[in-house]
Amino acid sequence: MNLRTILFTIIWLMVMLLAFQSGAWKAKQKQYVSEEEAKQIANYHMHDPLHAGGKVSMAGQFHLELISQKDGTHRLWVSNAFRQEMDPAGFEGKLTIEYPDGKKEGVPFKRLGRSKELVAKSEPLKGQVWLTIDGMLGSSIPFKKVKFFWDYEAEMVDLNIPLGLDSMLPMPIDNPLTVEKIELGRELFFDQLLSADGTVSCATCHRPDHGFAEPLAISKGIEGRTGQRNSLTILNAAYYQSLFWDGRSASLERQAVRPIFNHAEMGFKEEAEFVKRIDSKYGTRIKKAFGKPTALRTIAKAIACYERTLLSGDSDFDRFESGEREAISLSAQRGRSLFFGKARCGSCHIPPLFSDHEFHNLGIGNGSDPGRFAVTNNPKDKGSFRTPSLRNVTLTAPYMHDGSIASLREVIEFYNAGAGGNPLLDSVIHPLDLSDDDIEDLLAFLYSLEGRLADSKNIIPVEATNGKEKE
Ligand code: HEC
Ligand code: HEC
Repeated sequence: MNLRTILFTIIWLMVMLLAFQSGAWKAKQKQYVSEEEAKQIANYHMHDPLHAGGKVSMAGQFHLELISQKDGTHRLWVSNAFRQEMDPAGFEGKLTIEYPDGKKEGVPFKRLGRSKELVAKSEPLKGQVWLTIDGMLGSSIPFKKVKFFWDYEAEMVDLNIPLGLDSMLPMPIDNPLTVEKIELGRELFFDQLLSADGTVSCATCHRPDHGFAEPLAISKGIEGRTGQRNSLTILNAAYYQSLFWDGRSASLERQAVRPIFNHAEMGFKEEAEFVKRIDSKYGTRIKKAFGKPTALRTIAKAIACYERTLLSGDSDFDRFESGEREAISLSAQRGRSLFFGKARCGSCHIPPLFSDHEFHNLGIGNGSDPGRFAVTNNPKDKGSFRTPSLRNVTLTAPYMHDGSIASLREVIEFYNAGAGGNPLLDSVIHPLDLSDDDIEDLLAFLYSLEGRLADSKNIIPVEATNGKEKE
């Protein structure tokens, strides 16, 4: 080693020491606070946000909901204990932005027009920051140090909600949508690696060319093992309050891993074995998308993000409802009146999803499937199943939880005859006395519910909303 190298090394070491002490080094390193840790510190509330991509924190009995955008726009809503949004006139408050290196910046909130939204503007942001709100609503409601955590590295996106669907898409706060997660979820969804013998993917039973359901009456998994029920479509599944025909799963995140360990579906037995398999192919990308190693939770979250993008609306019916009077035929218009009137379909199949999220007994099957009873243990629920959405129902034959009815015409004839005989039959169901023409009209109406598919290209960067509410 010559003198120059030694000198250079000493200088380099000194510079490094200085940089380390000044915190510059520390700031450069990614500080991955997990969303879980953040939640604990920030007093996050398990309430779903009222605005897609929002995070909710509690301040006494009040809920503060924040959406913080990369471009430095911070949008805030205040709601009371009953989740009613409050008029923020007279709100005085500020947002303090705290960077990992300890630097702080404070910006005031202003009310946006006459809306219930408050907006604060800062410099564009990147990396991870803590956001703290301090303020007063009127003279009596103080908010002190209400904390939020934001990660702008995870490129947040919002969804274009198609015409006719509820603009309030339920979104869990601990799994915001990012492009990386959606892409990852899409690949996992179509990957046969997710089944024990490598022959079955989610898409085997949720086929894009069959309305994301499948043509078999009862699903078949690995080695031709048969399940219990007819596959459900994934389209718009993000809107359900509970998933599956019996509502046994509370969220897409929790649902996503169930088929993997179901003997008759994808057939894995050991969690560790499954995680190892997925990690070998997707480990690096999972780490990048979540800042955490491969685990059942991260895999489930990615799949759920993809599923949330599978929205389908903008059907002829939706266009008709939005004022395009030519969008559906006269026959479909008569069918529409029957659907919401005499035939009473609309008392359970309630728009926009065409489901009431409730469970009813229509007397389908031989009574061997307990349906909702398996979840509630309430004898009244025996043989009850969740009202399925009728959007895209033209694409997903055969019908009912056991796939026992082959066509839509037969479904209508079944209802017309007063459905299946059964002591627990839903009280709304009775013979309908529909003529052949009525049946044609109802069919035409069901066809008008076939939506245009928005897929995972259906994303817009969160910044693009630019502080404006979507229609
Ligand atoms: C072997 C066929 C099969 C495979 C493989 C399969 N599913 Fe399913 N899926 C079904 C059936 C059948 C149902 C309805 C089951 C029930 O309600 O009991 C269902 C229901 C669902 C639902 C609920 C939809 C709703 O409206 O409530 C979602 C979401 C779902 N599956 C996602 C997935 C994902 C994600 C995968 C891959 C990890 C997957 N499925 C793999 C057959 C399958
Ligand atoms: C009492 C509530 C209720 C009423 C009224 C009702 N439905 Fe249903 N509908 C359901 C439930 C619950 C199911 C699933 C039943 C099962 O699989 O056991 C269902 C299933 C269906 C299906 C099959 C969907 C699929 O994906 O398998 C169609 C189609 C349908 N209904 C159309 C109609 C029409 C048309 C009417 C009016 C003539 C109507 N429904 C009236 C609750 C109702």
